[in-house]
Amino acid sequence: MSEKYFIKTFGCQMNVYDSSRIADMLKNEGYEETLKQQDADIVLFNTCHIREKAAEKLFSDLGRAHLIQLERLETGKRTIIGVVGCVVQAEDAQIIKRAPFVNFALGPLMYHKIPEMLREIKQNKKSESVVNTEFPAESKFDYLPENRAQGACSFLAIQEGCNNFCTYCVVPYTRGVEYSRPVADVLKEARRLLDTGTLEINLLGQNVNSYHGEDENGKERDLAYLLHRVAELDGIKRIRYTTSYPADMNDDLIACHKDIAVLMPYLHLPIQSGSDRILKAMNRRHTAGDYLRIVEKLKKANPNIGMSSDFIVGFPDETDEDFQKTLDVVNEVKYIQAFSFKYSRRAGTPAAVMPNQVEEKIKKERLEILQNLLFDYQTKFNLSCVGKIIPVLLEQKGRHKDQLIGRTPYMQNLHVETNSANMNKIINVKVVEATTNSLSGKEI
Ligand code: 5AD
Ligand code: SF4
Repeated sequence: MSEKYFIKTFGCQMNVYDSSRIADMLKNEGYEETLKQQDADIVLFNTCHIREKAAEKLFSDLGRAHLIQLERLETGKRTIIGVVGCVVQAEDAQIIKRAPFVNFALGPLMYHKIPEMLREIKQNKKSESVVNTEFPAESKFDYLPENRAQGACSFLAIQEGCNNFCTYCVVPYTRGVEYSRPVADVLKEARRLLDTGTLEINLLGQNVNSYHGEDENGKERDLAYLLHRVAELDGIKRIRYTTSYPADMNDDLIACHKDIAVLMPYLHLPIQSGSDRILKAMNRRHTAGDYLRIVEKLKKANPNIGMSSDFIVGFPDETDEDFQKTLDVVNEVKYIQAFSFKYSRRAGTPAAVMPNQVEEKIKKERLEILQNLLFDYQTKFNLSCVGKIIPVLLEQKGRHKDQLIGRTPYMQNLHVETNSANMNKIINVKVVEATTNSLSGKEI
């Protein structure tokens, strides 16, 4: 019987993608996946460091994993515990100090080393825990086995790292400087995903629209070029790209929203704050006005586009007037979805030591006000879909028999009664009901 692995993933879509690549790598090595941690010979935690308590959550999960490791040992079974991802990059050897039962810890750019690490641990060549947080010169992507579809919707990382250094953010420190994969590599991975059942590809990067990969002739190409190339692939039904930085939205990329039929009419474009004073302190290279002008151009390119964003409330020195400017942007753009967070002090970032840190109570109040407003717009948008016929990509089983859950072009979840053979297909659905978080409809 083959050995089993269990992976728990925290955080962003990049981590979900990384976990899927790790899973492919382990399957290639002959391991089998299990969803039960108790049955796993290898337990991996893919961690996130973007906001507070991520490290604390990890250590409590590790505590539980240690108990299971000890229980299994009583019946003669060995459990290898590994930690990968951004917390490793930030905490480094601290992880092993606090959790000495962890066998290995690798930063986000080193996970192609996992099979080698497992082999060495199993041959007892490495009895001590290993930590590796290098930023290697070679790209991890060159060392990974070919990617298989993760279902009808798959992520594909085209870019990693960030050079923007927003003053609140740990990403440039945990994921390193920007790296763009060559065009040919991206197309090869996209082809393989389409050949193994994917219909929708979401091109990923921490700063995806600053993509500048080399083409087949060694020429640097931007995201607009890459989108056209991916859109030409046989069998592709939907394309998305996440996450974009406002200052990198060039006119060619905006034009893609008019010219590429399979590019979904939805864009996640974080603004973070509506106050120019705060945006400056955040080291963002755009003002609220710049952002609104980009949204206007996008709406001109595709009048049906739906916008999404990230917001931070309670950044150091944020006043009520600054916060009101954030609400003004929300009222102007009318986001159809959004993510909002209380500012979280991250050690080592410039904002962590800025004066006038905002009290927790005020952060909480502002977050509630902002989220209520965002939910109102989201609900209004969902209600406006009632009566419309929408193509839905079915990708999950629902709770009831014959119910499937799918995704609309606008990333809404939609429940529909339909033949289960329609799983992983796109069908047309008439929307009959809507709430803040989902839609339901009838197959037509
Ligand atoms: N505190 C709160 N939110 C943060 N984000 C990044 N760093 C922080 C922080 N220190 C949010 C930003 C970013 C999203 C992925 O996480 O809004 O766009
Ligand atoms: Fe972090 Fe800013 Fe880079 Fe986004 S653009 S990953 S918020 S530094």
